[in-house]
Amino acid sequence: MKTINILAIESSCDETAASVVQNGREVLSNVISSQIEIHKKYGGVVPEIASRKHIENISTVVKEAISESNLSIDEIDAIAVTYGPGLVGALLIGVNYAKSLAYAWNKPLIGVNHIEGHISANYIEDKSLEPPFVCLVVSGGHTHLVYVKGYGDYEIMGRTRDDAAGEAYDKIARALNLGYPGGPNIDKLAKLGNKDAIHFPRAKFNEESLDFSFSGLKSAVLNYINQTKQKGEEVIEADVAACFQEAVVDVLVGKLMQAARLKNCHKIALAGGVASNTRLREVLQKECENNNFSLYRPSLILCTDNAAMIGSCAFFKYNNKEFSDFSLNANSNLEIGKM
Ligand code: KG4
Ligand code: ZN
Repeated sequence: MKTINILAIESSCDETAASVVQNGREVLSNVISSQIEIHKKYGGVVPEIASRKHIENISTVVKEAISESNLSIDEIDAIAVTYGPGLVGALLIGVNYAKSLAYAWNKPLIGVNHIEGHISANYIEDKSLEPPFVCLVVSGGHTHLVYVKGYGDYEIMGRTRDDAAGEAYDKIARALNLGYPGGPNIDKLAKLGNKDAIHFPRAKFNEESLDFSFSGLKSAVLNYINQTKQKGEEVIEADVAACFQEAVVDVLVGKLMQAARLKNCHKIALAGGVASNTRLREVLQKECENNNFSLYRPSLILCTDNAAMIGSCAFFKYNNKEFSDFSLNANSNLEIGKM
C-alpha cells in the first residue's frame, strides 16, 4: 500500500494547529499554538482576537509542522483543514490558508468536520481500533453520542439539548472564580472535595432518550452558591466542584453505556476536551471493566483541539476520494456526517 502523508490544519477555536499524519495513524508532527493565555483575562474566547491570532500564527505553525515531519513538500499527498463547526472567523483563516497551499502546491484539498476529527483521535491512539464503536464526544461546544458504523459513517444517537458539557464546566468554573478554561481547574479542585456533600440533579428525559441537558444542573449549582452565600454560610468550593462533576460524569457515563448496550457494541470511545477529565476516565474505566467492554481514550494532547486528529480523519476521506474543491467555505454550524 502506498504511504499517504497528509498536512492538516485546525483553527476552529483558540488553538492554531498543524500536523503531518501518515496513513491516518502515525503522527509525524503535531504543532499546537494555544491562545488560552490571551483569552484567560476575558474569561472566555473572544472571537475577534482568536481570528487575529490565527492570522499571526498560522504560517509559523504550518512551517514547523512540515519541518518536524522531516518530509519534503513533494512527499505530502494532500492538505486537510477543519471547515466547521466552530467560530466562523477563526475557521476562515485555516480554510483560506489550506486552499492557498493546495492551489500553490497542486495538492488535493480535504475539508474535515471538527467533531469527526475529535472522534478520529482514537485511531491515532489505538492503531488497531476499527469501527463499529460508540463514541461520546464531549467538548466545549459539543456533546454527542455517536455510533461510528464505519470510517466516516456516523449515526447520532444523542446530543445536548442546551449547553455542551465543557460549556457547563466553564460556566461553573467562572461562578467559582476558577478562571478559563474551567474544565481542567474544576477537575483539579474536585479531587480535594467530597463528591457526596451536595446532591445536584441529573437531567432525565424519558428512559429511551439519549439526549443530554446541562442547563438545569448549571442553574442548580448557581442557586446553591447564591443561597449558601445569602445564608452567610461558607461555600466549600472543592465540594461544589466535586458534586457538580459527579452529576455530569454520572449522566455522561450512564447514557454512553446505554447507547453501547442498545447497539450491542462492546467497544466504546471518548473524544473531545472533556474526555481528558480524570473522573470521567476513571468512572468509565471501572464501568467498562465491570461490563467487559473495551474502552478507547485518546491521550490528553489528542483530546483537546489539535490538527493530528484532523489529519487522521482526512486519511479515510482520501481513501474514499472525498476531496473538496476551491469553493470550500467555513461552516460554523456544520453537522456531523454532512458535507
Ligand atoms: O475539544 P476542545 O479543546 O475544544 C472544543 O472543540 O470545544 O474542548 C475544550 C473544552 C473546554 O470547555 C474545557 O473546559 C474542557 O474542554 N476541558 C475539560 C478538561 N480539559 C478540558 N473539562 C473537564 N475536565 C478536564 N480535564
Ligand atoms: Zn474541539
